[in-house]
Amino acid sequence: MAKYITVVLCALVLPVCYSAKILAIFPMAIPSHYILGNALLRGLAEAGHDVTMISPFSEKKPPKKGSWRDVVLTGFIEKHEERMSAVTKYLSDSVPPVASAIAMPLLSVSLTEDILTHKNVRQLIESGEKFDVVIFGQFLDDAVKAFSNLFNAHLVVFSSISTNTMINEFVGNPSLPSFAPEFFSNYPPKMSFLERVTNTLNKVAFTLALHLYSYPKHAALAQKYISESIDFNQILYNTSLVLLNSHPSISTPLPRVPCMVEIGGFHIKPPKKLPEDLQSFLDNSTEGVIYMSMGSHMKSKDLPVEKREALLKTFSNLKQKVLWKWEDDVLPGQPPNVKLGKWLPQQDILAHPNVKVFITHGGLLSTTETVYHGVPIVAIPLMGDQKMNAYGAEVAGYAKIVHLSELTESKMSSTLNEVLSNPKYRNEVQRRSQIMRDRQVHPLDEAIYWVEYVIRHNGAKHLRVAYLDLAWYQYYLLDVIAFILAVIVVTYLLLRTVLRYVLRKCRSRKVKSD
Ligand SMILES: *[C@@H]1O[C@H](CO)[C@@H](O)[C@H](O)[C@H]1NC(C)=O
Repeated sequence: MAKYITVVLCALVLPVCYSAKILAIFPMAIPSHYILGNALLRGLAEAGHDVTMISPFSEKKPPKKGSWRDVVLTGFIEKHEERMSAVTKYLSDSVPPVASAIAMPLLSVSLTEDILTHKNVRQLIESGEKFDVVIFGQFLDDAVKAFSNLFNAHLVVFSSISTNTMINEFVGNPSLPSFAPEFFSNYPPKMSFLERVTNTLNKVAFTLALHLYSYPKHAALAQKYISESIDFNQILYNTSLVLLNSHPSISTPLPRVPCMVEIGGFHIKPPKKLPEDLQSFLDNSTEGVIYMSMGSHMKSKDLPVEKREALLKTFSNLKQKVLWKWEDDVLPGQPPNVKLGKWLPQQDILAHPNVKVFITHGGLLSTTETVYHGVPIVAIPLMGDQKMNAYGAEVAGYAKIVHLSELTESKMSSTLNEVLSNPKYRNEVQRRSQIMRDRQVHPLDEAIYWVEYVIRHNGAKHLRVAYLDLAWYQYYLLDVIAFILAVIVVTYLLLRTVLRYVLRKCRSRKVKSD
């Protein structure tokens, strides 16, 4: 009987002991962002934690373990589309990247206000609920970090890209524009002199925009909508852990302080069985398959007609088959070697050995997945981070870029044939695939471990680097350099005065003795 009671008590108590309350905020209405946040939170829920996720999307199949609650930012997807079309109108290719970098902090203010005033978020803010951890899917909506203070939680920041200016200074991560290209600069890891000049100016401009405009605005938002007593600056520098969706197989290796953990590739799942028609299509295409998907952001049917026709002509002349994610029922002029699918299980398709090339917009998830499965790419990047990823992949040597403006049949054919026939692209991506898979633990397990670690060690303040307590001029040694220069100058002046005095004395003695 006693044994029975113990078992029941344990069953009742243990989950409470070991399950943490986790609040995640992934406010961007961009599917790839949500997919990453969702994969992380699913992992945490499956590890037995109570998960609440604020995002524009909702989870239709919540995990069976732990608990899952959605706080849906209704209306955000529609608003995002409006915003994007307004932004892309003003920010064309001819605008220098730094202009878009400065425009981003400006845009972030109204986006963040939308989050903080949303009725579902207000309900949570006013609920008096407490959490153990707040995980913030960061872009520039910094005011949201004040949730950590409101809910009495440790702050964990998730970044969909590697270490960057938006997060480095808050955890004291060393990063100089000499070796760390700004994410919007589109520069290779080894920059030329002129690239370093531009990159430095970009960093200065971006930092000024953040400090002079963005952070004061966000501080005001946090005080207005969360709590008047908030010391926003303290919150910014109070980050316990940063999870980076990067890895040397897909991103430039950069320094990381101990509280920064790389989990790139964590969202990739073991391949599942393909639907029967796809399986037999891929199995039977012994000449190889080209898989084409422009992601969820742009529908293939929105592709300009002449570009679509250029692609179709290219495909019809290939001996390979083509599998095209096409969201419409019909594709005018569809060649017999092209198979369409409205929704395609991308990861499982890339895992098939007959897939030879992936034609992609170069989105973050697509580039990560293609490296994991070792498939070279032809990228048609359309917007911001796609250009960055595609460029990174081309520099790394497993991709060729075809810009939409230069997409013609001859350009597409020659590029596609180059990637199909020259083994260097495939070899490089396969080499990187091995690097990505060579991990001590699965990156999702690593992420879960670190979130739990932060809870176990009450914010893991022992990981903080001393730089965080230094002023910027101290960090850059400006005070030390100024001191050393002053000592040199003073010593020089002193010596000069003394020497002059002695010389004068000697001379006057000489005159007297003469
Ligand atoms: C900073 O975080 C710790 C725990 O991670 C918390 O105890 C402390 O109150 C936070 N400080 C502020 C100003 O939010």
